[in-house]
Amino acid sequence: MSNFPSKEPVLVTCGLPYANGRCHIGHLRTYIPADIFVRALRKQCQEAVFICGSDAHGTPIVVNAEELGITPGELISTYHKHFDNIFKMMEVEFNFFGNTDSPTNHARTTSIVESLIDAGYVYPQVIKLAYCPYDKRFLPDRYVEGICPYCGALARGDECDLGCGRHLEPGEIRNARCKICGNPAEYREQEHFFFRLSAFSGFLSKYLETLRGTPNAINYAKEWVRELKDWCITRNLEWGVRFPDHEDLVVYVWVDAPIGYISFTEEWANTTGNDWERYWKGDSRIIHFIGEDITYHHCIFWPAMLKGAGYTLPWAVVASGMLKIEDKKFSKSRGYVVWVDEDYLNHGFHPDLLRYYIASYTSHTKELNFSWKIFQDKVNNELVAAFGNFLHRTLHFAYKNFGGIPEGEVDKEIFDKIRSTTDSVVSALDEYEFKKAADDIMELAQYGNAYFQSHEPWQLIKKDKEACGHVLKNSLQIAKALVLLFEPVLPGKMEKAWKQLSLPGDIHALRFDEALVEIPSQKLEAPEILFSKIEDKKIKEMESILDRRIKVAISKEKKQEIEAEKPAITFEEFQKLDIRIGTVLAAENIPGSDKLLKLEVDIGEKRQVVAGIAKSHKPDQLVGCQVVVLANMKPARLFGVESRGMILAADGDGTVLLLPEKKIKEGTKVR
Ligand code: 2FM
Ligand code: ZN
Repeated sequence: MSNFPSKEPVLVTCGLPYANGRCHIGHLRTYIPADIFVRALRKQCQEAVFICGSDAHGTPIVVNAEELGITPGELISTYHKHFDNIFKMMEVEFNFFGNTDSPTNHARTTSIVESLIDAGYVYPQVIKLAYCPYDKRFLPDRYVEGICPYCGALARGDECDLGCGRHLEPGEIRNARCKICGNPAEYREQEHFFFRLSAFSGFLSKYLETLRGTPNAINYAKEWVRELKDWCITRNLEWGVRFPDHEDLVVYVWVDAPIGYISFTEEWANTTGNDWERYWKGDSRIIHFIGEDITYHHCIFWPAMLKGAGYTLPWAVVASGMLKIEDKKFSKSRGYVVWVDEDYLNHGFHPDLLRYYIASYTSHTKELNFSWKIFQDKVNNELVAAFGNFLHRTLHFAYKNFGGIPEGEVDKEIFDKIRSTTDSVVSALDEYEFKKAADDIMELAQYGNAYFQSHEPWQLIKKDKEACGHVLKNSLQIAKALVLLFEPVLPGKMEKAWKQLSLPGDIHALRFDEALVEIPSQKLEAPEILFSKIEDKKIKEMESILDRRIKVAISKEKKQEIEAEKPAITFEEFQKLDIRIGTVLAAENIPGSDKLLKLEVDIGEKRQVVAGIAKSHKPDQLVGCQVVVLANMKPARLFGVESRGMILAADGDGTVLLLPEKKIKEGTKVR
């Protein structure tokens, strides 16, 4: 018995991408199977709403915007459009793609937080938080880096992303350093608000027994439920949803992000004349597709919050395994990344090829390795040689010899095979086994190939046209079933194939059952080839793009290591440096050089210094400025001009001069 169709309405969601960077294959690992699942539900007569949106708040957004020198609003607007566009191009068709900074989400979050406060699930507590004395600010989440107290790995303030994967509460991280200036952080006390997660342990233990989905999600959650810690749900940030009655606090992003699922349903319902409460207040089946790394948030924190505020609980949580690129751990900073636009779509690859790869490479919960060679193999051997070949040879033979689909009946044996394949595909999808579903469909294509080959219609046509027509009719019935079954995985290509079969109706709206309706006898147009081989040359080109990116990342990493690994020096060695405060008396360009300026500086005595700051500073801006000068630098001649000293600057965003905090006497020593 299949799980669907059900009498309860179904809502499928995907984890919300942070709107702070481009879409890569790692994202698609969740979104494509979810889209396949929704399309397949509709093919089983199950109405389903498919919701997603941009995650607009939290330190991932604020830190990136700050680094780029733009506002968080500007950042999310760019990437919201980017994701929306990529999903459309990859045929991931949400009913609604929202944004957690919408007024609806602010209002819904406030209302849920107020319900939790009213029900006694939120309490204040003074805690010690990382604080940067240099930047004079508290350092929430990604503003701080340090050591995970559980496994000792290098971690972010709220997450041990490179080690044990644990969620870290504010103040838990050890050896905290400020992410903005790199200095050690101090711990300061401040009042924050906590969600009483521990009060839900009995409820969660029972709930997890009924929660459906993939075992990787449910089993981990069952382990974690034994030791629940209350969650700090406020942060010192400007950007986000205000915590009620506290102007200086916003709610933690993991509060308002999942609430986005509700708000987007509301926004969708308001624009389409539906009722969002059917999904979030009544009996419904809410199915969350997520990446394995955010299981805790979806199986523990989110159900507790929903329960506490009186909303419908998730019916299933489906967690996808992680991603590797050419057998190496996915890593943007190390160059092991494949960008969906730059590295895939812009090279003319059809979205369906990648959809097929993601669905069929491995089980949904296992690690998926993306390799260009395997991509080529799967396309050339499976989509081209097995499925495409069967489709094309059948259609082409029928068109050439019969002008279309011949008269006659389809054998029972053929219908039986189609029925058993459909049943097996549906049960695989019920278990979120997308690979099994794709393999079953491909097996039907192989069956079709074997049937066609063994009946030798090219011989039969010479001796017995009617018998040949019968073989073709059976083959075309298999082709029709394949097109319907493959539509969720290959929607664009199957739309074309449906047209080639000259069949009526919208392939995307038809049901799997349609595969058992006999294909009518009718004319066909000359078929076009749907899948073509990918040449070795193209794959080499793609591999070298990836190689180049990895090399650039490695050399960047090495440079950072070299810079970081300067040997320690003693205080006596430091004292050899004669560093003094100076005032720039005169500045001018040096003829023939676009980098150098000649400065006259008063450092208690007049000095001529050549500085490589012409690209970032104009001579007349500098006159009168105080600077920091290394006075005992060995004299040198640059472009024929003598330099006796060095102006100190930071090599950051351009060249940034170091300036004393206030005006002081020329020649003052820096220690
Ligand atoms: O981990 C992430 O990328 C988050 N942006 C996912 C949020 S999913 C949800 F709960 F909103
Ligand atoms: Zn850890």
